Amino acid sequence: MLTCYDYTMARLMHRAGVPMILVGDSAGSVVLGYENTLAVKLDFLIELTAAVRRGAPNALLVGDMPFGSYQGSVSRGVKNVCRMVQLSGCDCVKLEVAGSHVRLVHELADAGVAVMAHVGLRPQAVGVMGGYKTQGRTADQAMTIVELAIRMQEAGASAILLEAVPPEVSQAVVDKLSVPIIGCGAGGACDGSVVVVHDMLGLTERKPKFVPGLAELSGPAVAAISEFVQQVSNGRYPAEEHLYSMPEDQKAAFKKRMKGES
Ligand code: KIV
Repeated sequence: MLTCYDYTMARLMHRAGVPMILVGDSAGSVVLGYENTLAVKLDFLIELTAAVRRGAPNALLVGDMPFGSYQGSVSRGVKNVCRMVQLSGCDCVKLEVAGSHVRLVHELADAGVAVMAHVGLRPQAVGVMGGYKTQGRTADQAMTIVELAIRMQEAGASAILLEAVPPEVSQAVVDKLSVPIIGCGAGGACDGSVVVVHDMLGLTERKPKFVPGLAELSGPAVAAISEFVQQVSNGRYPAEEHLYSMPEDQKAAFKKRMKGES
């Protein structure tokens, strides 16, 4: 699974045959340039998810529910999830869950919505987690994560996303649950892995340690952008081959009219 936020990248993922795509609220950082994901709005993510759906019609598409869209009451959460599903065409929604979300996950599963429950590091809870830190490094914390994942499966979650935990914790979650477990910085025991595509392609300035550096696209992109600026500045662009043509008779008629001859 890879993150994706726009139609053009979704086309590339479609061509590459990516089986699962997450339109994550990490869009807040990589698309909008915010420090964290808290400012991302539901309507914004719905629009991006719908664009990715158009670009990658065959992938299993996961729509992320942003901060504030599923808190407060179960009915509000259900209403907003239904908006995401109906307007974006996603196949599944992802919620960063705490124990208090068991009822919401249950209601959604009963309504027929596939829910991916995001546990471990929850970036939307950065305020209480004290930063973006590895979770489950003590036996107590590890047990809490495993127990929460079990409760989510029991409530009807279709999959678990496990972020930033040691491999012992992901192995335990995989052993105890039967639904697919997708890891994000959670080691090799998981059934699948997700990373932010901009990190993987070398487009961001800092890449988390768990992301494989499979390409370095920022260098070529900066070089092409600088070259464009140079060519426009020194008059090498636009050249003959970039011009649209006009039929000769129309050119002649146009010239005459510009001179006021007819
Ligand atoms: O928003 C996101 O992209 C995510 C992944 C990094 C797991 O939640």
